[in-house]
Amino acid sequence: MSSLQLFLNRTISLSPANAADSHRCFNSKRGRVCVRACVNADVKAADGVKLGASGGGVSQEVVEAEGRVLVGTYARAPVVLSSGKGCKLYDPEGREYLDCSSGIAVNALGHGDPDWVKAVTDQANLLTHVSNVYYSIPQVELAKRLVTCSFADRVFFSNSGTEANEAAIKFARKFQRFSRPGDKQPPVEFISFTNSFHGRTLGALALTSKEYYRSPFEPVMPGVTFLEYGDIQASRELIQGGKIAAVFVEPIQGEGGIYSATKEFLQSLRSACDDAGSLLVFDEVQCGLGRIGHLWAHEAYGVFPDIMTLAKPLAGGLPIGAVLVTERIASTIKYGDHGSTFAGGPLVCNAAISVLDKISNPGFLASVSKKGQYFKELLLQKLGGNPHVKEIRGWGLLIGVELDVSASPLVNACRNSGLLVLTAGKGNVVRLVPPLIISEPELQRAAEILQECLPSLDESK
Ligand SMILES: Cc1ncc(COP(=O)(O)O)c(C=O)c1O
Repeated sequence: MSSLQLFLNRTISLSPANAADSHRCFNSKRGRVCVRACVNADVKAADGVKLGASGGGVSQEVVEAEGRVLVGTYARAPVVLSSGKGCKLYDPEGREYLDCSSGIAVNALGHGDPDWVKAVTDQANLLTHVSNVYYSIPQVELAKRLVTCSFADRVFFSNSGTEANEAAIKFARKFQRFSRPGDKQPPVEFISFTNSFHGRTLGALALTSKEYYRSPFEPVMPGVTFLEYGDIQASRELIQGGKIAAVFVEPIQGEGGIYSATKEFLQSLRSACDDAGSLLVFDEVQCGLGRIGHLWAHEAYGVFPDIMTLAKPLAGGLPIGAVLVTERIASTIKYGDHGSTFAGGPLVCNAAISVLDKISNPGFLASVSKKGQYFKELLLQKLGGNPHVKEIRGWGLLIGVELDVSASPLVNACRNSGLLVLTAGKGNVVRLVPPLIISEPELQRAAEILQECLPSLDESK
């Protein structure tokens, strides 16, 4: 039997009559589980939050408490997830979900992969955190592996995708200053593209195309020009102007709606950057690390960056980010230029070694390509004939189903039928990013549920 205690204390003290202290036990696929929720606050249904088919019980209590004690930054789906194994997730009432969201393209090895669990538990027993004041073995081992299997010569670790992009911004500016010592106005500006997503901190946010994300927090970092994703001519002209420190581009855009760059576009960015001395940064936070059946998305194009940023799946669910750079760039970065207390700690790095060792195996990558092809064909068969379905696109296990209406009713109906999928783009794309270990029968089930739920798109009218 496992047990979980949640203590959600508010400093505003309420009368004992208002204090909820609930203790629930239930049977799940993994045995008997007890959850004790001690919420020292008046618990009422949070406005507008209704649980899905699971409704009530511990899930209801968690949702209500969340509405009282967390800053409201997330429009969460009304599901509480309390355990997982492989591609299945369970709520506290034991309801099962097939996971085609992977914690937003993070859980590449699914949930509870035994080698990952061993890497985490072994390392937790040995050493979790030391800071970057000291050396640690897993950090150096992980960096050695990343360097061996990529274009890069050196690695900087961060804790997330947005932080990886912040570091890349700083490295690009430092590189430009350092490599043009006599230049009073070295290039400090950036190019980013429509539908891009690079993160939520003020530098990465400045590179993120959706105005809705940026405008409440302006001024964000100045000097960013957004160009049409794929516009070779406009990119070349702007880069030739000599003010661009770096071009940030996702070889395949995830959040933006699953749009793939063309080879010509990436090649032309590469040659324009080379001619002007600008740096080319590939943000592979979502599309990298095996998601499309290549270890790096840019391998599919044969175009190589100066800097690549990574995060999401690298540590199998623990927070990590990484910036991979060539020696030319690394040589311009000195002690104190950048840093992080937590980044590259022994625990996350040992977890990441276990993930990278699996994902970088050519047989594993080939299986992702094969399953991606299989899934796309199934989706075409089952969904392609529906008049709301405009396009089914993507590579490997990064697939988007573009609709002519909002995808939310379909995503909600799938969830109520036990399938977790995401939206992307302007909310009109269903994003499918299952764990890379998903089986063909599971993909078949996912496609069937999506098909069964298609009528929800008409019901909502
Ligand atoms: C391409 C890309 N870059 C950066 C980020 C930001 O990563 P994080 O949420 O870890 O900060 C994301 C997150 O979705 C992403 O998809």
